[in-house]
Amino acid sequence: MLLNLPDSILFRPVRPQDLNAVMEIEKGAFDAGVQEGSDLYEKRIDAFRDGFLVAEDYETGQVGAYICSEIWHKDMALDSETLALGHDPQKAHNPQGTQLYITSFAARSDWRGRQIGTGLFQALEKRIRTKYPAVDEFILIVSEKWNAAHHIYEKGGFKEIGRIINFFTPDNKPEEDAILMRKAL
Ligand SMILES: CC(C)(COP(=O)(O)OP(=O)(O)OC[C@H]1O[C@@H](n2cnc3c(N)ncnc32)[C@H](O)[C@@H]1OP(=O)(O)O)[C@@H](O)C(=O)NCCC(=O)NCCS
Repeated sequence: MLLNLPDSILFRPVRPQDLNAVMEIEKGAFDAGVQEGSDLYEKRIDAFRDGFLVAEDYETGQVGAYICSEIWHKDMALDSETLALGHDPQKAHNPQGTQLYITSFAARSDWRGRQIGTGLFQALEKRIRTKYPAVDEFILIVSEKWNAAHHIYEKGGFKEIGRIINFFTPDNKPEEDAILMRKAL
């Protein structure tokens, strides 16, 4: 799919100094109770920087979107325990595995709707295909309420393979089902 991205946007691997910008995006994108902490993001940056990309506006230096992932062995059970928010990336990630799990994906609200999220997702897919040829599938979970993300995944070739009922537990809001999606490469 050909994108019409803003000229000044570049996609690049995360740097440790991006942590604050990533956390600001995360807090703006997810409800309390579904957010993950900066200690975890720090571990994600350490564990697999090739699988953690950000979108930066090189004219302003602002980082406005990120996507992060882990490589798993295919024998990992795709249940609520393995998929739990906050699970330890240093234990889960295995560069010899064949399954890429998207751990988080978000954009600043004032950056949305300009194909930057789609571009970032495509940049990650291209990087993984090139650098980790053994990876033969992508998997992720998306809340039934995250319509834009769900739309991007369906458009990108992901199919629903299961649901985990009441997986997401936002504070002071009803629980939300997680839709488990897969794309074979
Ligand atoms: C998911 C997210 C990163 C996408 O970023 P973005 O830069 O706005 O994405 P894009 O502009 O590339 O694409 C958005 C697509 O969703 C569509 N969309 C937007 N709102 C939508 C809605 N409510 N319902 C269905 N589709 C919607 C847009 O039309 C666009 O599709 P198109 O290219 O076919 O027109 C951003 O919406 C976000 O941060 N959401 C909150 C966090 C989240 O849900 N993360 C997903 C975790 S699994």
